[in-house]
Amino acid sequence: MKSAPWWKEATIYQIYPRSFFDSNGDGEGDLPGVTSQLDYVKNLGVDAIWLSPFYTSPNKDGGYDVANPRDVDPRFGNLDDAKELIAQAHKRNLRVIADIVPNHFSDQHEWFQAALKAGRGSKERERFHFYDANEDGTPPNNWISLFGGPSWTQVADGQFYLHLFDSSQPDLNWENPEVNADFEKTLRFWIDLGVDGFRIDVAHGLVKEDVLTNHPDPQGLSNALRLDVAMDSEVRNALLLTVPYFDRQGVHEIYKKWRKLFDSYGERDIMAVAEAWVHPPVNATRYVRADELHQVFNFDLLTAEFDSKVLFDVVERSISLNATVNALPTWALSNHDSPRVASRIGEEQARALALFVFGLPGSAYVFAGQELGLPDGQLQDSDRQDPTFLRTNGQIKGRDGARVPLPWSGNTTPFGFSTGKPWLPISQSWKDLTVESELADPKSSLHLYRNALELRKEFLVGAGGITWLESSQHGHKSDSLLSYSRGAITVVMNLSDSAEECEAEGKLIIVSGGTVDARDGKKVIPARSTAWFLA
Ligand code: GLC
Ligand code: CA
Repeated sequence: MKSAPWWKEATIYQIYPRSFFDSNGDGEGDLPGVTSQLDYVKNLGVDAIWLSPFYTSPNKDGGYDVANPRDVDPRFGNLDDAKELIAQAHKRNLRVIADIVPNHFSDQHEWFQAALKAGRGSKERERFHFYDANEDGTPPNNWISLFGGPSWTQVADGQFYLHLFDSSQPDLNWENPEVNADFEKTLRFWIDLGVDGFRIDVAHGLVKEDVLTNHPDPQGLSNALRLDVAMDSEVRNALLLTVPYFDRQGVHEIYKKWRKLFDSYGERDIMAVAEAWVHPPVNATRYVRADELHQVFNFDLLTAEFDSKVLFDVVERSISLNATVNALPTWALSNHDSPRVASRIGEEQARALALFVFGLPGSAYVFAGQELGLPDGQLQDSDRQDPTFLRTNGQIKGRDGARVPLPWSGNTTPFGFSTGKPWLPISQSWKDLTVESELADPKSSLHLYRNALELRKEFLVGAGGITWLESSQHGHKSDSLLSYSRGAITVVMNLSDSAEECEAEGKLIIVSGGTVDARDGKKVIPARSTAWFLA
């Protein structure tokens, strides 16, 4: 019998290459920098790395504005560096996931440059969404870009092109078969170079319908679609049900084709994970039907409050919805688009939540720096580079805080990240959060992650479903405790601000913070902390 494919319950480490490690002193992380730190990554106990884009790009949106998807941007190195990275990762039994960006290209891509030159009505323009202005000269509809400002930009001959993101990211027209042909070429290019899978950027966005229809609240909708804009969840959910440009049925036809392409590589078990934040949540399961993609991100934990009812609902819903299509969920607490979890819910809470989700079935994603417990970087407005900041005139601060480079060693900023000036400043206050300093401290967040990932592998991967012990529907301490058992492990999270007794059986094998005491045959879980017990 074939064993479970590598990605099934993998732990995947997301690297934002520009912020990971700078090998040549220009202040920006690069591919050789990633390669040089693969032992660190391996020792964390993860199974795979996902690399945010490193392709040729003017870097208006951190490389998600791709000018040539089949080459490496010089700031990150070259194709040989990519090959070497993949080879070195494989040597350590780490898989490599590349980030593919099919919703849009950069305006510097040769197709878009050709479209500008060729003019209205041309074949070149049909690869994008070009429309004439309304009679009064306004854009074809009122949509607001996800980075703020209109979703349309006018070119010299008066036509407008659609861009759901920055004006430098024209959306591709997936009704044009040339577009899919080009992306299949890109997928094969990277698979042939050795990558093991793909993270599909804006996977729910490729197919547009009703491109000429207005939305009743375009600004509200744009805010609701941003993970870094706080919003009442009811208001957000109501708006998210009205998105006209995401999650159209046609996207699934594309992924069915791609699945065939992946499967044609047989034993290599090429996988893909969809970035598809869709509503209602049941729609996400469509992306992971047996003949489509392998995983879909669950975004709920990126915005969920540290609250037992909220977290129970998120976990329960994700497990049960995925089960309807025979898939396992994914868990992510941070990524390059959202505030870092330690800043969002608190440092102890972030550790507790990480240990809680590492026990769950499915794949766990860890955003580089999360294992160190990094908070968001404190930046001056003059440091900021996110197009959102620029397009909203500073009203929305954007995502740079989560993208500050990693602190590696030493006592002074930039803590070994670079011998030059880092592209975003690293605060001197991160002195005790460097890899070096956390390695020396057995109580550090880094050690917690390393120990937890080792125990996860030993006792939990492949251990089947969970049984709730305490939650809003089970047990009697549901406001303070959330607890489940899985295989031989019982996981108890105490969300409250005081220590709580529980009846978990077995031997304590890890705790996210503080110490677990025993009292009258019961275990006392410290405030804002999670513990695992082995039966
Ligand atoms: C995805 C990426 C984000 C990027 C956007 C546009 O949401 O995660 O970083 O800005 O797509 O490509
Ligand atoms: Ca560099």
